[in-house]
Amino acid sequence: MRTEPLEQAMSAGVVFGPMNERDIPEVFEIERASFTAPWSEAMLLAELDNPVCISTVARLDVKTIGYIFARLIIDEGHIMDVAVHPEFRGRGIGPELIKGSIGQLVTMGCRTMFLEVRSSNMTARKMYTELGFEVIGRRNGYYRMPDDDAVVMTKRCG
Ligand SMILES: CC(C)(COP(=O)(O)OP(=O)(O)OC[C@H]1O[C@@H](n2cnc3c(N)ncnc32)[C@H](O)[C@@H]1OP(=O)(O)O)[C@@H](O)C(=O)NCCC(=O)NCCS
Repeated sequence: MRTEPLEQAMSAGVVFGPMNERDIPEVFEIERASFTAPWSEAMLLAELDNPVCISTVARLDVKTIGYIFARLIIDEGHIMDVAVHPEFRGRGIGPELIKGSIGQLVTMGCRTMFLEVRSSNMTARKMYTELGFEVIGRRNGYYRMPDDDAVVMTKRCG
């Protein structure tokens, strides 16, 4: 999906921009450090090439330190995958990636955002709540390694 480039410099020197294939090895390293069942490099590449997907990375100098994949289906946005390098968490980079993606999707016609999050992932749930997402449901046994329910969250945005 073609989108306007998102270039936004933060005071800490973190720059946000479109993901490209050269980012995938570092994105994969963050993915492996962040999830017990990480996406493979092939899955990450397929998502990058998916015509309904937008993707953004956060960079500090030449290092990739965070990323997000989101999809737009008609007027519904879905956060598919978001993570920040463990050494760079707690600096607001995750929320900036999410807010930036929602902003992009709204310009493309998004009216409602959706996501699923592990019920045990209280850090992410708190972040989403602070960003205005509300819990609308639960998918029992949605996750493996370890078994966990998914909490479904949504946010009106258009
Ligand atoms: C969820 C995640 C993307 C948040 O990104 P972030 O850039 O750290 O977000 P924030 O800076 O807002 O910090 C969120 C919370 O992390 C916690 N935190 C702070 N410093 C931290 C650190 N050094 N390491 C880990 N967590 C930290 C704090 O509880 C903070 O909340 P607070 O600001 O209210 O105190 C990130 O923790 C991550 O990549 N987690 C693993 C992947 C994941 O769970 N993705 C979401 C799947 S739905």
